[in-house]
Amino acid sequence: MTTQQPTATTDAPGSGNETLTIVDNRTGQSYELPITDGTIRATELRQIKVSDDDFGLMTYDPAFMNTASCRSEITFLDGDAGVLRYRGYPIEQLAEKSSFLEVAYLLVYGELPNQQQLDRWVHDITHHTFVHENVRTFMQGFRYDAHPMGMLQSSVGMLSTLYPEAKDLTDEENNELQIVRLIAKMPTLGAFAYRHITGKPFVYPNNELSYSENFLSMLFTTGVPQYTVDPRIVRALDVLFILHADHEQNCSTSAVRSVGSSQVDPYSAVAAGVSALYGPLHGGANEAVLKMLRRIERVENIPDFMEGVKAGKERLMGFGHRVYKNFDPRATIIKKACDDVFEVTGVNPLLEIAVELEKIALGDEYFVKRKLYPNVDFYSGLIYEALGMPEDMFTVLFAIGRTPGWVAQWREMLGDKDQKISRPRQVYVGPGERDYVEMSAR
Ligand code: CMC
Repeated sequence: MTTQQPTATTDAPGSGNETLTIVDNRTGQSYELPITDGTIRATELRQIKVSDDDFGLMTYDPAFMNTASCRSEITFLDGDAGVLRYRGYPIEQLAEKSSFLEVAYLLVYGELPNQQQLDRWVHDITHHTFVHENVRTFMQGFRYDAHPMGMLQSSVGMLSTLYPEAKDLTDEENNELQIVRLIAKMPTLGAFAYRHITGKPFVYPNNELSYSENFLSMLFTTGVPQYTVDPRIVRALDVLFILHADHEQNCSTSAVRSVGSSQVDPYSAVAAGVSALYGPLHGGANEAVLKMLRRIERVENIPDFMEGVKAGKERLMGFGHRVYKNFDPRATIIKKACDDVFEVTGVNPLLEIAVELEKIALGDEYFVKRKLYPNVDFYSGLIYEALGMPEDMFTVLFAIGRTPGWVAQWREMLGDKDQKISRPRQVYVGPGERDYVEMSAR
């Protein structure tokens, strides 16, 4: 879905008084529905009935292919033009000039912070990175081979038990404290999950370090000397977080909004987002890309693999997007970040396979016809691997990056008078009423 540009819609001809006339051929009745910002209200269709006891017309839209579930001021996305903007700022400019925490502030509050606001924000996030000691024992309860996304999802949910005051959504200041906590603690939870599966002692946050450097330190510190890392690696990670920070109403964000609409606390809502992100068609794709590249093993095996994809046996992971049908601007920036990281770490041998796959796919009619292009996940996994992350951790990195988007969207939803508890309709196609059949008669 392409978000309507605010300027384009207000200047659009007839904006504000445009209407849609529908003639119901079942009854011959005509209806005039208002069009606002390129949409009609689905509930307006309910007046279209064949009889008084008819429920009224509904739209059938599995997977929300053409349904706007909210009005949002956060992220603008034009899939055909490959445009992504946070609060109006092009992703390319933010990736070049901004820091992840600055972008997080922008997403949550709508404006870039001035120096004083940024300092305060960074200070607050930094000083909420520590977690209750019970999180540590909770994490230790997982099996040695637990998937870190499973651990993240549960431990984010568990935070709701530690901050019961988060249930009070009427207090704006209280909500903002939970937002700070969520952004601050996500890397700590992710790093604890990693240390657990690798059998290493947990490393506590270091308030002297930046957000991304602290995360790397919690992951990779061994022994007493302080962990040091090339600043190009820290910057690349910060940029990756920026690129993942929001993507309007994607599967996990819709999950956060949908669960949050029940007025549950934000930890529980964000845990739902983490669960949605876990899936291989969403955030799990970066992990799937690496597994795929490893399975292909050599450039010579690509043609065989591609035949399988085109025959529908499997998907080319990291390709295609529900919204981007031209190019994914995040993928372009990530390719550049790949070069920066490989300058420090040396080239990942799987890169050659990835580059060749991309070349072949972009020239193949199957992919061209279906408008399938590399998405954000195609190259991000290669960077994560170069940074020393195991595949299991890739989606955790996506989750850390996406947290400001989830909480910004959650906050926007709370303040939106149009929003109610999410509750889709269905088209019932099951059996009509029938009598219970006794066991002996079945
Ligand atoms: N490889 C091969 N064929 C594909 C692919 C792919 N990666 N993606 C879509 N197609 C085909 C699909 O088989 C269908 O073909 P046909 O019309 O012949 O049946 C056509 O393209 C349309 O596919 P779709 O499943 O209807 O498209 P969608 O908008 O529902 O799915 C998608 C979007 C991202 C789930 C899908 O492209 C996909 O599964 N990609 C691989 C997984 C992936 O990389 N996901 C990460 C998405 S970006 C990160 C994020 O935002 O989460």
